[in-house]
Amino acid sequence: MTIAVTTPTGHVGSRVVHLLVQAGVRPVVLVRDPDRLDPALRELVDVARGDLTDADFVGAATRGAEALLWVTPDSVMAADPVAEMTRIGANGAAAVRANRIARTVLISSVGAERRHGVGLIDGLARSEEALAAAGGSLLILRCGFYFTNLLAGLDELRAGTLTTTMSADTPQPWVDPRDVGEVAAARLLATDWSGVAVQAVHGPADLTWRQAAGVVAAATGRPIDLRVVSDADLRAGLVAAGLSEAAADAMVGMTVGLRDGYVPEQLRSPASATPTTLESWAYAVLRPLLR
Ligand SMILES: NC(=O)c1ccc[n+]([C@@H]2O[C@H](COP(=O)([O-])OP(=O)(O)OC[C@H]3O[C@@H](n4cnc5c(N)ncnc54)[C@H](OP(=O)(O)O)[C@@H]3O)[C@@H](O)[C@H]2O)c1
Repeated sequence: MTIAVTTPTGHVGSRVVHLLVQAGVRPVVLVRDPDRLDPALRELVDVARGDLTDADFVGAATRGAEALLWVTPDSVMAADPVAEMTRIGANGAAAVRANRIARTVLISSVGAERRHGVGLIDGLARSEEALAAAGGSLLILRCGFYFTNLLAGLDELRAGTLTTTMSADTPQPWVDPRDVGEVAAARLLATDWSGVAVQAVHGPADLTWRQAAGVVAAATGRPIDLRVVSDADLRAGLVAAGLSEAAADAMVGMTVGLRDGYVPEQLRSPASATPTTLESWAYAVLRPLLR
């Protein structure tokens, strides 16, 4: 079976590639820079080198594929990230249609069901729509907040602060993207499903930001204070860090759209739960980085 995998160097995609290789599959990986692939896996995959913004590349690289992991990258460095994500998702859908790819697993997010007003997640909603109309079977994985987002704030964590614009005491699903990769790989290897379906990937528990700060503090052995900042402060910080106005709006829009009474359409269930806890991830991944 030929399985094509986008973003094989990402948190989700790299886990999918490893599991496919362990399952005896030689995946085709669509990658911008093959040197960024895990060297141990490099000889065990077929490399298609190119950019997901290039429709011709995506179409050619996925020719003959029976199944596809589609990830629409967040594109925060683009002048207009949602527009760029919309173009990339359309490239994936065109490839599914042209190459008659039977099954696609799309990585999406909680909140995509709102369709608009969720910042960057609007870009994932456009991918959901485009791929659902592309003619093949589609599993949409609507994932919770990735533990790995904390890696973007290492300096702050070292200084003892965790910052958010979400409310401190509202629970939300937190998930290890490695576990998202495991759910995706299981579906890519299965051939007995069809149609268009949505499945959530919610991690082991819903956590408030205050709880998450406490878990991270305990696991890393460092005092961590939660700092809730305003949308305006976050936006100003992102623009000062070099993001375009549209990108800053898309980042802020994500939290605005998931705050204030938002409840995910897919409720927590045995099918949405994955095993890795924030505590074990923070101990294994974050603690060494904060030393
Ligand atoms: N963060 C969250 O909380 C969250 C929650 C729900 C859903 N999601 C979604 O989950 C998905 C996967 O996230 P992740 O954490 O696994 O990603 P990630 O680790 O941030 O990796 C991004 C990947 O995209 C690749 N990439 C970026 N732009 C590209 C382009 N133009 N052409 C080809 N490849 C490109 C990167 O390749 P290089 O090695 O070349 O840079 C890298 O492999 C994303 O769609 C994200 O929106 C995220």
